[in-house]
Amino acid sequence: MTLYFASTTAPVNIATLKYWGKRDKDLNLPTNSSISVTLAQDDLRTLTSVCTGPELTDDKLVLNGKEESLASERTQNCLKDLRQLRKELENSDAKLPKFSEWKLTIVSENNFPTAAGLASSAAGFAALVVAIAKLYQLPQSLSEISKIARKGSGSACRSLFGGYVAWEMGNETDGSDSKAVEVAPMAHWPDMKAAILVVSASKKDTPSTSGMQLTVKTSDLFKERVRDVVPRRFEEMKKSIREKNWPLFAELTMKDSNSFHATCLDTFPPIFYMNDTSKKIIKLCHQINAFYNETVVAYTFDAGPNAVLYYLKENEHKLFAFIYRTFNKVSGWETKFSSDELAQFIKHFDT
Ligand code: DP6
Repeated sequence: MTLYFASTTAPVNIATLKYWGKRDKDLNLPTNSSISVTLAQDDLRTLTSVCTGPELTDDKLVLNGKEESLASERTQNCLKDLRQLRKELENSDAKLPKFSEWKLTIVSENNFPTAAGLASSAAGFAALVVAIAKLYQLPQSLSEISKIARKGSGSACRSLFGGYVAWEMGNETDGSDSKAVEVAPMAHWPDMKAAILVVSASKKDTPSTSGMQLTVKTSDLFKERVRDVVPRRFEEMKKSIREKNWPLFAELTMKDSNSFHATCLDTFPPIFYMNDTSKKIIKLCHQINAFYNETVVAYTFDAGPNAVLYYLKENEHKLFAFIYRTFNKVSGWETKFSSDELAQFIKHFDT
């Protein structure tokens, strides 16, 4: 059997300026631009391998060892766009094998538990689209390809790049300018670190897609957010990243998380993603910053109760001293630590 293969990995990204609201549901066009920080590939990522060949009889997806359906409209839209681009290539060069007409087998695996309460759809769709684009040898840039990933899941378009990424909402009705672009590579700000505090591993109450549609329909606060607040923050946050202005980046990140959750509360009926533990974390972060009289930590929460904390490496011990003291005794807690320095500190703290 003749088969052609390609593989890729895509990292999880966490929005520091949130995407929340669609102006076109089918094309997945957002009501505001957003920014994310991509987590390091070794930490949280999806690995996807794809193959195609003339003898394959069906499109097939195996996700974390289990066969899953490829029938969703979003997935079908991605496959259709990728095959169309491949077809254009084949039309221009008759010698190319007819990949666009053959079926695909897709095997995908996350290196983090799907039940960890972390958005896996972003890395999942990004890896799927990039792996197929690689297999098809598409000449388009990553930004161009990000428009296809966007149709799978909005936030997925940002997982095509590492480091600091903006999703420019665009103005066109056909989505041709709604794409991800790099703001800065990871290496630009190597001191920035992230930790995820897993508050709950259960599935979220209200899926993002339906939640944001209800917000667009019912929230007054949302109107102000997309008209004035986010466009201003979008420019400020990009600048804070380029200039490595940590206090400004941290403040904007925390304010935008709060604004997003306030908008959820203003949705009718209201949507609650954070729980009491999440709120305790927010309070604690502000107490830590006040205690040291400097910005040690910034928090952000997506559509769930888990916290993502950003901090500078030099402040790691200051942050985790507090985190451990406050939450050490709480059962069901998992914290993701990242350095030996920290392990030593905790040991010291415990004894
Ligand atoms: C709160 O990208 O999951 O994480 O486009 O409907 O698939 P769909 O939504 P999705 O929404 C993510 C929402 C968010 C904020 C963000 O990642 O920007």
